[in-house]
Parts: sequence; C-alpha cells; structure tokens
Amino acid sequence: MPLLEVKHLKKIYTTRFGNNPVEALKDVNFTVEPGEYVAVMGESGSGKTTLLNILAALDRPTGGEVLLAGTPTSAIPEAKMAAYRRDNLGFVFQDFNLLDTFSLRDNIYLPLVLAQKNHTEMAARLEPIAKQLGIADLLDKYPYEISGGQKQRVAVARALITHPQLVLADEPTGALDSKATESLLHVFEEINKAGQTIVMVTHSTRAASHAGRVLFIKDGVVFHQLYRGEHTSAEMFQKISETLTVLTTGGNSVE
Ligand SMILES: Nc1ncnc2c1ncn2[C@@H]1O[C@H](COP(=O)(O)OP(=O)(O)O)[C@@H](O)[C@H]1O
Ligand SMILES: [Mg+2]
Repeated sequence: MPLLEVKHLKKIYTTRFGNNPVEALKDVNFTVEPGEYVAVMGESGSGKTTLLNILAALDRPTGGEVLLAGTPTSAIPEAKMAAYRRDNLGFVFQDFNLLDTFSLRDNIYLPLVLAQKNHTEMAARLEPIAKQLGIADLLDKYPYEISGGQKQRVAVARALITHPQLVLADEPTGALDSKATESLLHVFEEINKAGQTIVMVTHSTRAASHAGRVLFIKDGVVFHQLYRGEHTSAEMFQKISETLTVLTTGGNSVE
C-alpha cells in the first residue's frame, strides 16, 4: 500500500470579497511509496506550499483527498488533528521555526513533551538522532548561538524524534548557504537511506537532484515526473534543468 495517496486534489482560495478566486491546485494526483524521497518543484506561485499544507493537514482541500497509510485525513476529527499531525508527520520549514528561549535540546524535545513522553524515552530517542545529525555537542546551546545550517539540523532532529511516517519539508535549504545546503542534503539522503519517507518542496535544482523522484507542478496539475533510477545527482541535475526549461517556456522564469 502506498504511504501517501493524493487523489484529484483541488484548492481554490476565495478572498473575503469573493471577487477573484485563485485556483492554486486543479487536479493533483500522485502516490508515494514507503521509503521514497520525493522532491516537488514548480515555479513560484504554482501551489507547492498549498500542496504541502494540505498534505500536512494544516489546510483543507476544496476537492479531492489525501490518504496517509490508507486513512483519509478528512476522516480525522478537528479535535484530534493536532495529535494526528504530531504522531504521524515531521515538518522542516525554510525558516527553521525554533524557539529562541528554549535550548536546542528542549526545542527537539518539544513534540515529545506535547505527546507526554517521559524524559528517559526522550533522551533515548534523541541520542542516535543527534549523533547522526552531528549536533550532539550543541544541545545545550540556544538557537541564536548557532549557524543557519546547524539550526536546520536541529529542526530536522525535531522532525525525526517522533519517528514520523512522513517528513514534509518546505524549501528546507532556502535560507542556507551552499555549504550548509550540501550538508543538509546529505543528511536527508542519509535519513532516507535509513528508511525515512520524505516529501520535499524546493525550487532548488541542486536540492531536487538528490531525491529519488521529482514531481513538477504547473497549472495546478502534476505536469511531469522524473525518476532518478540509476542516475547520479549530476545527471539528475541536468535532467531537472532540461525539464524546468520546458516547464517555463512561455512562462515566467523559475526563481
Ligand atoms: N491564503 C491564501 N489566500 C489566497 N491565495 C493564496 C493563499 N495562499 C496562496 N495563495 C495563492 O495560491 C497560489 C499558489 O501559492 P503557493 O502555494 O504559495 O505557491 P508556491 O509555494 O509554489 O510559491 C498563488 O497564486 C498564491 O498567490
Ligand atoms: Mg512556497
């Protein structure tokens, strides 16, 4: 069974005055198998964040549905949504979303604190993750004391510590310099190799070239998919660049 099924997803934003509804997603269909690493690309305004927010059940679609491990998110009562998200999904955002008044350790523990896990379990979960992400020596520091790349590793640790079925990332390298980007992409590859399913929205060809599959969205639908197969990241980079050229012909350039 696919881990994630996206069926005929439609999202229309209507403004308060109802004048100009925006069709952000028209008919998006795709599935993600357990263990996949999927990048989603598209021009600015093509609906990538809208899609991710719906996958994260942070927003409801106008039509269609999202199933996680066979369960439609629409079937989950609003009152149980926060717990559902916390138990099943991990999030990594462009701007890290760390709390400055919390140490890095407490930032990472936060979802487990909310899930009322005890300290022994939190510490046991953190140890291997901190080691894998290379942040074990930083845990007593505060977000303002570390670099952007280190902040993003902490955000990844916070996403992983609940052992989510799916990690969702929206432009995770968007605020990072090229060295920190490479390092974070390496981390994503490693956690994916260890079995973690990842869906990452990005407008970075370099970031997408590390994924196992790249979905391109345009005009509210999945316009094209590229599978990595036996290709290297360099070959994927080339193929993605070519696809983006086709995608943007006659339109605005990709940011
Ligand atoms: N809350 C909202 N209300 C109205 N329109 C929105 C809202 N969020 C996004 N949009 C519009 O939906 C389209 C897709 O936006 P978005 O999903 O943010 O695209 P992307 O992340 O690919 O840049 C854009 O035209 C955007 O202006
Ligand atoms: Mg966006």
